Order: sequence, then C-alpha cells, then structure tokens
Amino acid sequence: MGGFLAAIFMRGIPVLQIPTTLLAQVDAAIGGKTGVNLAIGKNLIGSFHQPMAVLIDPGLLGTLPEREYRAGLWEIVKAGVIHEPALFRYLAERSAAVLGREHHAEDRIIADSVRMKAEVVSADEREGDLRRILNFRPHLRPRPGGRDPVHPLFCTARPSPGACGPRSTWPK
Ligand SMILES: NC(=O)c1ccc[n+]([C@@H]2O[C@H](COP(=O)([O-])OP(=O)(O)OC[C@H]3O[C@@H](n4cnc5c(N)ncnc54)[C@H](O)[C@@H]3O)[C@@H](O)[C@H]2O)c1
Repeated sequence: MGGFLAAIFMRGIPVLQIPTTLLAQVDAAIGGKTGVNLAIGKNLIGSFHQPMAVLIDPGLLGTLPEREYRAGLWEIVKAGVIHEPALFRYLAERSAAVLGREHHAEDRIIADSVRMKAEVVSADEREGDLRRILNFRPHLRPRPGGRDPVHPLFCTARPSPGACGPRSTWPK
C-alpha cells in the first residue's frame, strides 16, 4: 500500500522499503510491484515502482507470530524449487534450524531468496517472460487428518482458483 501511494503521489516519489514480515522481506518488498486489491479481485490496481533501497533486518522477525513466519517460509521453499537448488537442499537438511528460527539459518535463507528474486526481476522487470516463474504456486492440501505441510496464509491450499474462503468451507 505504501509503495503504491509512493508510485502515484505527485506522479511518483522515492520510497524506501523496510519489511517486517518474512514474506515481505523475501517477496513483497523485492521487485517494485505495488498494488491494492479491489472487491472484484486481488492487486487489480497497481504499478511498478522500484524502491530506492530495501532494508532487511532479520532481527525484526523475533516478534513475528509463527503463522506469519511459516507463510514467509513458503515463499522461500518456492524460491528453492524454481531457481535455487542449493537453497532447497539447505531447507531440507537444516529444517530444524529453519523451523527453530535460528538466526544463522534465517540470515542464509533470506539472503538466498532475495538474491533469487532480485536476479529474476532485474532480468525481467515487467513480467515479460522469465518473471512469470515467480508465479509458480503449487496447491498443497493437508493430508487427511495430518498437519499442513506449510501454512496456507495466502490461499496456497485454496479449494479452487479464485476462491479463498475460510478452511471450514473447503471441500472434504
Ligand atoms: N508486491 C508483491 O509482489 C507482493 C508479493 C507478496 C505479497 N504481497 C502483499 O504483501 C502483503 C503482505 O505484507 P506483509 O507480509 O508485510 O504482512 P502484513 O503487513 O499484513 O503483516 C502481517 C501481520 O504481521 C504483523 N507483523 C508484521 N511484522 C511484524 C513483526 N516484526 N512482529 C510482529 N508482528 C508483525 C502485522 O501486524 C500483521 O498482523 C499482502 O497484502 C500481500 O498481498 C505483495
């Protein structure tokens, strides 16, 4: 929202992003996409407006609720799958450190994810072709009676495209 206002106020003013969630640190703040939702759909008004800088302090994550942390982890898994095999291996081999929110692990996975996204959006800022790989979004469903593999904070496990209701409304 702040990025979008900076993009349109006086036809654009400089903006500095200081993301405080893991999701924003590895995804939302990187790449210059800004937008707001309309009642009829997500991100329907927006613009590309690159920030002057993105200041990421992993120390801010210390107060982040677990649910929000896991939502960010999902983006990091995605970065590993689509473009960073070493990151994916690290997540698999050091899952205890990652889920335990150990600082060295957080630093490593944030840096790798930011580098991946920055490389992709630098090569294709306006989503011509390469950047579309960032839209990779497999739909994971929890095993019957099991725990979610990742927390579907932003509809990764939605029942059908475009639908994102509360879990109680999902088809069995
Ligand atoms: N522009 C893009 O390419 C892009 C990509 C992904 C997501 N998004 C958008 O970004 C938004 C998500 O932003 P966000 O991740 O900053 O979430 P947010 O600002 O909605 O914050 C999520 C929750 O975490 C709390 N919180 C945030 N930081 C905290 C901290 N350090 N300690 C304790 N609590 C904290 C907030 O109060 C809030 O309850 C969504 O609207 C999403 O659609 C944009």
